[in-house]
Amino acid sequence: MQRTYIKDLKEHVGKEISISGWVDVRRDHGKLIFIDFRDMSGKVQAVALPSNREAHEVANKVRSEWVVTATGIVNKRPEKMISKNKETGEIEPNGDIEIELKKIEVLNEAQTPPFDVRGDGRDINEESRLKYRYLDLRRPRMQANIRNRDKIISFFRNYMHNTGFVEIETPILMKGTPEGSREYVVPSRLENGKFYVLPQSPQQFKQMSMVAGFEKYFQIARCFRDEDTRGDRQPEFTQLDYEMSFITQEEILTFTETMFIELVKTLYPNKKITNTPFPRLTYAESMKQFGSDKPDMRKDKNDKDELAFAWIVDFPMFEKDENGNMQAAHHPFCSIKEEDIEKFMAGKDIMSVRANSYDLVLNGYELSSGSIRIHKADMQQKVFEYLGISPEEQQKKFGHMLEAFRFGTPPHGGFAPGIDRTVMILQNEPNIREVIAYAKTGEGKDLMMGAPSEIGERQFRELGIELRKKK
Ligand code: AMO
Repeated sequence: MQRTYIKDLKEHVGKEISISGWVDVRRDHGKLIFIDFRDMSGKVQAVALPSNREAHEVANKVRSEWVVTATGIVNKRPEKMISKNKETGEIEPNGDIEIELKKIEVLNEAQTPPFDVRGDGRDINEESRLKYRYLDLRRPRMQANIRNRDKIISFFRNYMHNTGFVEIETPILMKGTPEGSREYVVPSRLENGKFYVLPQSPQQFKQMSMVAGFEKYFQIARCFRDEDTRGDRQPEFTQLDYEMSFITQEEILTFTETMFIELVKTLYPNKKITNTPFPRLTYAESMKQFGSDKPDMRKDKNDKDELAFAWIVDFPMFEKDENGNMQAAHHPFCSIKEEDIEKFMAGKDIMSVRANSYDLVLNGYELSSGSIRIHKADMQQKVFEYLGISPEEQQKKFGHMLEAFRFGTPPHGGFAPGIDRTVMILQNEPNIREVIAYAKTGEGKDLMMGAPSEIGERQFRELGIELRKKK
């Protein structure tokens, strides 16, 4: 018999149907055995009556998480048996129907899971949840997080296409070019001693796509950074990356703001945005007023439905790292604010030079960064100079960009909201691991697969790599 999804059972009252899925819970009331079944679309209660020996016998032996196909009649439940939400009094999904079982076919048995997959899982040790992620993902909270993540990504993708952007896939194996974070390195087999790195972001490729004349690029882009992980950081994460040519900072801010308001209205209508238009603060104002460049501007920090967006603009171009070395505050491709160009060119009071760069913050998290870029080679070289990168080094690491800028590069700028952080906040989760299907631990480990792991002797040989023995 053709399979019916549990969500569609209501349309089949009085008829015989067949469902496939997992045993969620089994309650043995002696003569009557109740089983809740679960599939990707929902849950439903079924009952095995002793009068139906075949179904009753199997119902007696199935256990939670067994995989079955069950056949039976969909019945309306009597009024007093309808299952309602205790708080709202609303009828639960499928709370008014029940399947009277005729037959249960066991497709696969299951060991007792290491933890309960039905609760919200917050009290379960996270290492165990990550090791058995395929079980952890069965819980309704995680299913909702991952499915809503898909809806958010799909919203962004449609929005981009509807506003004239083209999605371009950029390489994952690229050249090492220091942009800020430590990179993941991939050895080359064909050229021993040479290495690819994984992109920290598609920054250079999106700028190249502007040189190439695409004008409006976007990508749901996977990024990789070898840095210590935290609640809002993973070694690999996803950005909604975009770039536009002939664009002003004002236009990028307005475009982005409209898109986020639309996203909330469409997918999270119960949430309220504290202030529209989003408040704007300069970096200096934000630091002075809040002591932070990602202020939490919610009126009520206990309100899980409040969304306080804010723009932080005019970041400094340069900062000093912990050793006192100059580095780009955002990245070296940001253009300099018109008012500060004279200072910049003269090399005067360089730490006070501001960039045309901006962040979007939400409830105290940095959601996104972006800037209007440098599009002329001499300006770009000047920034590299201030960063202490010698002309030879500039050629070696960024020669391709400097060269491209000499072939008719339009003025351009862009932005890159982090998708994981966006989903985390919209789903009211405390960290991004809860919205990443196969997340890594704080130490960057994938406990389910066991990565990172050793590689074989032959792979070392092919890659021309020898491991130095630990002393
Ligand atoms: P930036 O480095 O600020 O800018 O990153 C943009 C956004 O990406 C998200 N993000 C992360 N999310 C999870 N884990 C991480 N380790 C992580 N690192 C960053 C954040 C952040 O705001 N190419 C530039 C953007 C541009 O200039 O257009 C860039 O990557 O939400």
